Amino acid sequence: MHAELAQRVMSAEEAAALIQPGSQIGMSGFTGSGYPKAVPMALARRITDAHLRGQHFKVNIFTGASTGPELDGALAMVGGMQLRLPYQSDPITRKLINAGEMQYMDIHLSHVAQFVEYGFLGKMDLALIEVTAILEDGRVIPSTSIGNNQTWIECADKVILEVNSSQPMALEGMHDLYYGLGKPPHRDPIPITLPNQRIGTPYLQIPPEKVIAIVHTDVPDRSSAFKAPDENSKRIAGHILEFLAWEVKKGRLPENLLPLQSGVGNIANAVLYGLEEGPFEGMTAYTEVIQDGLINLMKTGKLLSASATAFSLSPDGVQSIMPHIGEYHDKIVLRSQEISNHPGIIRRLGVIAMNGMIEADIYGNVNSTHVMGSSIMNGIGGSGDFARNGFMSIFMAPSLAQKGSISTLVPMVSHVDHTEHDVSVVVTEQGLADLRGLSPTQRAKLIIETCSHPDYRPALRDYFNRAERLSYGKHTPHLLTESLNWHARYLRTGHMLPDKC
Ligand code: COA
Repeated sequence: MHAELAQRVMSAEEAAALIQPGSQIGMSGFTGSGYPKAVPMALARRITDAHLRGQHFKVNIFTGASTGPELDGALAMVGGMQLRLPYQSDPITRKLINAGEMQYMDIHLSHVAQFVEYGFLGKMDLALIEVTAILEDGRVIPSTSIGNNQTWIECADKVILEVNSSQPMALEGMHDLYYGLGKPPHRDPIPITLPNQRIGTPYLQIPPEKVIAIVHTDVPDRSSAFKAPDENSKRIAGHILEFLAWEVKKGRLPENLLPLQSGVGNIANAVLYGLEEGPFEGMTAYTEVIQDGLINLMKTGKLLSASATAFSLSPDGVQSIMPHIGEYHDKIVLRSQEISNHPGIIRRLGVIAMNGMIEADIYGNVNSTHVMGSSIMNGIGGSGDFARNGFMSIFMAPSLAQKGSISTLVPMVSHVDHTEHDVSVVVTEQGLADLRGLSPTQRAKLIIETCSHPDYRPALRDYFNRAERLSYGKHTPHLLTESLNWHARYLRTGHMLPDKC
């Protein structure tokens, strides 16, 4: 290790003692990968002690995206977070947010770094970053995610590094840090024209004088397991594969498709498994996370390369893939999330965006984040970055949730993340609706007849038919006193349909 930095090695407790109440901290971490583990746990213990003494101690936590139980879980459990952004998926944190006990800002992932650089989100006091190693000359090998790490390091007054020896040294060279986009009007084009193109350096740039502590850990990333693809997921994947094959046949997509983006969740992973069996060869990915499914596609030789900002492997994947990660050196590029999710590059490459959803309405508006309009699930993540700017955007979900008491196709979504203007395709296990080139009423008929579950289809038809007759305007017919009744009824009775209550 760099001689000057070696003098700042200390325990997690000593490092946590350097963190002041009220601090705004940029931490590493993206979909359960590369997040600091020892210092957040020590900080949680310090916060508990402070609370026992009757002292107020909370911090604001910014990350790349979701982390793991040692970070979000530990800090949420002790009530240590005042504000969290831009994405999380921790159950305890979710509970506190939905109970109104902590603040949460759900932000497009491509926006976060620039919002901090522009000064929209206040001053960054500290960067707490997990890294794989610090080399003798001071160069720093990033960990299994990059996220906003370089921005946190640049913008924060001080830096704490967690050097995690459980992360494989073979990660060296896999990252591509391209930093310093500048502020408008002084922004230049980002020179990426191919998904796996390298335009930066593999190392994080850290001014040694900013580093106040270095903590050694050996705790592996703790990501959550994927459910094995069930019948519905397989059917959704089947519809998407058939659709993509049709688009190739029509000459609207090349035979090796366009770069794929695949979101988080079990269905997204099932689609990747489906592509293993599909006919497409020579594929690439320009996406946010490298899931098990993408690695398996690489193993088959069908996926040539993938660009992302993080790994998001299941526990089995961490065990089986990480020790051999060096084999994927020439195939995987990990970038900062403002580059992996950059709207301009996504538009230039023509990415096919595939993301999960909570619900869609008959006109194609999509809710990715809120249950019953008010309770956040995870966050928008990068789905908006990719959906609005991609070559086409596909949103997928089973047609039913919660044992059939909820239809994921509703008259009006209870929260909008992706408007009708950003949604090309809606797909459920029932079928796929290609919404491109259709007016609102044409879209409604197609979504109802193709995607909705037969148990809910008559009620959707009834709503739409009456809306067509009685609505104030006939362009996007709605009955405003009824459009959210399904959600209200579910909250009142436990079922969206009146005759099932
Ligand atoms: N109403 C209420 N609950 C619903 C629902 C609805 N319309 N649709 C799904 N749910 C519930 C499910 O019942 C399930 O609950 P459970 O955990 O109690 O079983 C939970 O939401 C997850 O649903 P599941 O079908 O397993 O979906 P998933 O794992 O594919 O995740 C999202 C779906 C929408 C939550 C997930 O894709 C997400 O967070 N998306 C937003 C971020 C994003 O797209 N990022 C990608 C950019 S790279």
